[in-house]
Amino acid sequence: MAGTEGMLLLPLMMTITVVMMQAALFPQAEAGEPPYSCGPRSASVAQGYAFCDARLPASRRAADLVARLTVAEKVAQLGDEASGVPRLGVPPYKWWSEGLHGLSYWGHGMHFDGSVRGITSFPQVLLTAASFDDKLWFRIGQAIGTEARALYNLGQAEGLTIWSPNVNIFRDPRWGRGQETPGEDPATASKYAVAFVQGLQGSSPAALQTSACCKHATAYDLEDWNGVARYNFNAKVTAQDLADTYNPPFKSCVVDGKATCIMCAYTGINGVPACANSDLLTKTVRGEWGLEGYVSSDCDAVAIMRDAQRYAPTPEDTVAVAIKAGLDLNCGNYTQVHGMAAIQQGKLTEKDVDKALTNLFTVRMRLGHFDGDPRSNGVYGHLGAADVCTKAHKDLALEAAQDGIVLLKNDGGILPLDRSAVASAAVIGPNANDPFALDGNYFGPPCETTTPLQAIQSYVKGVRFLAGCSSAACVFAATGQAVALASSSDHVILFMGLSQEQEKEGLDRTSLLLPGMQQSLITAVASAAKRPVILVLLTGGPVDITFAKNNPKIGAILWAGYPGQAGGLAIAKVLFGDHNPSGRLPVTWYPEEFTKVPMTDMRMRADPATGYPGRSYRFYQGNPVYKFGYGLSYSKFSRRLVSGTKPGRPNTNLLADLTAKPTADGGASYHVEEIGAEGCEQLKFPAVVEVQNHGPMDGKHSVLMFLRWPNATAGVSRPMSQLVGFQSQHVRAGEKVRVGFEVSPCEHLSRATENGKKVIDRGSHLLMVEEDDGWEISFEA
Ligand SMILES: *[C@@H]1O[C@H](CO)[C@@H](O)[C@H](O)[C@H]1NC(C)=O
Ligand SMILES: *[C@@H]1O[C@H](CO)[C@@H](O)[C@H](O)[C@H]1NC(C)=O
Repeated sequence: MAGTEGMLLLPLMMTITVVMMQAALFPQAEAGEPPYSCGPRSASVAQGYAFCDARLPASRRAADLVARLTVAEKVAQLGDEASGVPRLGVPPYKWWSEGLHGLSYWGHGMHFDGSVRGITSFPQVLLTAASFDDKLWFRIGQAIGTEARALYNLGQAEGLTIWSPNVNIFRDPRWGRGQETPGEDPATASKYAVAFVQGLQGSSPAALQTSACCKHATAYDLEDWNGVARYNFNAKVTAQDLADTYNPPFKSCVVDGKATCIMCAYTGINGVPACANSDLLTKTVRGEWGLEGYVSSDCDAVAIMRDAQRYAPTPEDTVAVAIKAGLDLNCGNYTQVHGMAAIQQGKLTEKDVDKALTNLFTVRMRLGHFDGDPRSNGVYGHLGAADVCTKAHKDLALEAAQDGIVLLKNDGGILPLDRSAVASAAVIGPNANDPFALDGNYFGPPCETTTPLQAIQSYVKGVRFLAGCSSAACVFAATGQAVALASSSDHVILFMGLSQEQEKEGLDRTSLLLPGMQQSLITAVASAAKRPVILVLLTGGPVDITFAKNNPKIGAILWAGYPGQAGGLAIAKVLFGDHNPSGRLPVTWYPEEFTKVPMTDMRMRADPATGYPGRSYRFYQGNPVYKFGYGLSYSKFSRRLVSGTKPGRPNTNLLADLTAKPTADGGASYHVEEIGAEGCEQLKFPAVVEVQNHGPMDGKHSVLMFLRWPNATAGVSRPMSQLVGFQSQHVRAGEKVRVGFEVSPCEHLSRATENGKKVIDRGSHLLMVEEDDGWEISFEA
């Protein structure tokens, strides 16, 4: 979302006057009705208006309502703060709420000043993604949706449309909003989108719990780099990268998650702003993917299209081009202010507006906004203050933080600590006792917060604390004091990393190193300490901590993201062995030298001729500090594809009728389009993986299954490897369990050609669940 500073927004007085006049003409129309539509005393019900008739399909009801509105009333619906229509008993509506990792102060739709003053604050998304557990993601979505409903029933929400999740690919490690996303891998982001959206929206498409919105379509992942800001950035994106990197999460979100909203980004995509891009919004999102819902703009994206991007000559042209391209709602008031003039000038038709409004009201019908008192809603009406910050939700926040934490280094098994053997501990670092360091961005008031320091104090006595720097920026460090404290303590735990001062919306990093004096402080403390120290990093995006990885005096390293209200406790549980860590990095940790790459270069694939290294584990040619999918456990796990479980091979007979087309590297490939939906269905096959926990601790394990092409060459720019899927499973020490995968060759074993078409190569493919062990799948008709 954007601030509107500097935007010139000229109010069109007529729109405002007309709406106010109607309010004055029919002030008593629904006198005594609380702020909801179609209640028992409603005149609209008395009149038998179809939009109040809950037995009719939502789209019919929406069309009926739209047909009753004047042009001015229609235009007044086109912004996130939609006017009421008093004469029809329709209250104002606020479209903009956020629920990325808990309900949020951001947006205008919710407030926390009534009987509910706190909400469950889950970990920032990137940490939750590290669990590689889509059942967990679903439950978090469900809990947030439930809390939103409760707030709505209590009159603390003026909307139920939540503009989450953010499923943009975390393309560049410097991106300030990478923390909000499920990471760099399109398959992971797709699964995240589906699980989270289904949780948030609930299981009944006719009675939505809330409406979820996948943002920001598409190829948006830059705030501000070298004078290029997100408001004026034109992303040059290839059809190949769109097909196999940028678009898959949005496609899954709509096709499988049935999200009721897509938000278009500020980004210009190959010269056309996303919110004016009919190829994207109408042809792809609504046409090919079949969106049943609305398209919203990112905040002020329509105004920005004119003011920053100069895409259309006048405000009226800009409004018209966006709505005609498939935009239904503008966050901000630009379309409300300029919409009427656009119609009067013949640039926009009333029919265009009707189409947008029907999409908008259909979602509100499905949310039950036209069924009278929300507390009498049969499915969600019972939810209230007792359903917010429940024990179950608080436990879930803890579980999510625990399952996300990634153990990056544990030399000599220094962790877990034996609490009875810790006589004294020094806790050092600016992130140790700052509640805000747990939140990340887009947070709300947490029900309760435990900082890492507080949690450690609940485990051991004799804890001494020193922040060492006043903030993560660490411009000055109290190195002398820190060294004195470290050298006189049994154990030293450092809480370092980043904060919203370094990475957030509107702010990308320019360096991947720890800020300011952090590195020298950590190194000095480590040299002075009696034993190897423990370094806990609270960050969103990755940091280059090669110095710590290589320093034997730094015994253990944990990445704990921004872990939410229970983050301190989760960290302490991992440190003291009450939880066995199982998180795995959802993003590549690049070395500092990666910052030589222009952030504006959208290419995923490496270009060895120019030294361009490529991006993400799929294409990056350099040596990462830590790899995508990396993460240690206190136990030793092994994984094995169980080939004995037939049928375990694709039925390739049906490829016999197809001709494999030659590829640039002398191979041949089958086109997924030609295989067809039914053929793709028949090609699916199961794969079973046996996981063994060799001990010594019980714990969760996430199996990541990758695809490799054994004789791939750079010629057709296949990924070096590609995630097929993942399954997360709790395994007791000493136990063996089996987890099942369904492999869909069309989806998982295909690759995108340069023109964005999906193909399956003839010949060998390897499914891998261990570095050095593959299961060969061959496509040979
Ligand atoms: C539109 O929004 C801007 C920025 O929030 C505000 O300054 C302006 O008064 C609004 N105009 C109308 C007509 O509501
Ligand atoms: C790999 O090599 C084999 C043998 O040279 C060939 O038959 C096959 O088509 C190749 N596969 C790919 C994917 O290029």
